[in-house]
Amino acid sequence: MNDRQPPADTISEHGEIFENLDPSPRLLMGPGPVNVYPSVLRAMATPMLGQFDPQFTHYMGQVMSLYRRVYRTENHWAFLINGTARAGIEACLVSLISPGDRVLVPIFGRFGHLLHEIATRCGAEVVTLETAWGTVFEADALRDAIRRHRPKLVALVHGDTSTTMAQPLDAIGAICREFDALLYVDATATLGGMPVEVDAWNLDLVSAGLQKCMSGPPGSSPITFNQRAAAVVARRRHIEAGIRAEDVADAGGARIQSNYLDLPMLMDYWSPRRLNHHTESTSMLYAARECARVVLGEGLERGFARHRTASRALRAGLEAMKLRLYGDPAHRMTNVTGVYIPAAVEGDKVRRELLSDFAIEIGTSFGPLHGKIWRIGTMGYVCRKDNILRCLTALEAVLRRNGFAADAGAAVDAAYAVYDHAPA
Ligand SMILES: Cc1ncc(COP(=O)(O)O)c(C=O)c1O
Repeated sequence: MNDRQPPADTISEHGEIFENLDPSPRLLMGPGPVNVYPSVLRAMATPMLGQFDPQFTHYMGQVMSLYRRVYRTENHWAFLINGTARAGIEACLVSLISPGDRVLVPIFGRFGHLLHEIATRCGAEVVTLETAWGTVFEADALRDAIRRHRPKLVALVHGDTSTTMAQPLDAIGAICREFDALLYVDATATLGGMPVEVDAWNLDLVSAGLQKCMSGPPGSSPITFNQRAAAVVARRRHIEAGIRAEDVADAGGARIQSNYLDLPMLMDYWSPRRLNHHTESTSMLYAARECARVVLGEGLERGFARHRTASRALRAGLEAMKLRLYGDPAHRMTNVTGVYIPAAVEGDKVRRELLSDFAIEIGTSFGPLHGKIWRIGTMGYVCRKDNILRCLTALEAVLRRNGFAADAGAAVDAAYAVYDHAPA
């Protein structure tokens, strides 16, 4: 090969086939996706199995039992939707909502708007309730709205990464029961990082993703739902021609508009009947299984405490740099922090330099907050003292280069002080 010829792996007879995949190492401290646990990456590289191989269906059973524990529920139904967290949301909403059903969506950030959007596409009569970004709802405000509108379903986000706020849920499930409404919760950004007490809080359906505090790749959505929800969706059970046995009839309710995200079909697939539906994403199931094993292996409470301490340390460091934190301090998520971009600097330039010079990614923001705050995630595998100190050191250096007079060393000292006094 002479100097002018590209290496053999960059050309083919049809032209370029590009270089070997070799992404640069990054520290992902945005609001997700985050760095994946090494054992999850290894699990994903293990061999394929056929979807009805008894070994694979055994793993499916293990996944159900692991996610019952992650969700702290006795629910029978806990399984995976193939797709990102949004697919889990759609599976729950499209299966529950029949056209014309009234759905109440309290909105405190971008992902409340997403629930509104999806519920509307499902043909619901959607009633919304909004509060300013950076705040959450009082239980009484939700109670009044539920009493007034009498929805069939309340759809609510737990931690909305767009505003970094966490909606307290402990009282909401009981209120929904009082008015005979179902409660769906999007716990994408909190599962594994903050308590999600499915049974204790009477949550009827909950969905999540892997790419935040579960520290897996995006592409699988663990969901769980109770018998109240199962009874509602079962009234819409339909079995495809071609796999239907002679003696099985449809339930007769309105057909669920999505085939792929049809919960009763998925229940048939995730039950001992193993009624054929999609081909389960083998590698993502391995990933989801390993994420849950790692999270449960650490212990849920220990993991929550690790996230709380990391956020306290990060916030102490940011404030020591004289940066201002965003949002209602009483309701901040403990795995992502919003911080105002100081007037003296250009937010996107700082983010670019953090990435190019320190290989650290932090998050931008959407809608009304765009250009106003950065969002710094401390989720899952990333949520460790060394990463907090690295991030603060790098941010301080980049801010100083960009003309913001942060006291040298103050941020790291403040973060150290939190860790020095944190319970072991
Ligand atoms: C609260 C919340 N819900 C839903 C989603 C959508 O997740 P995905 O991009 O995995 O579909 C996100 C992603 O950031 C989120 O933070």
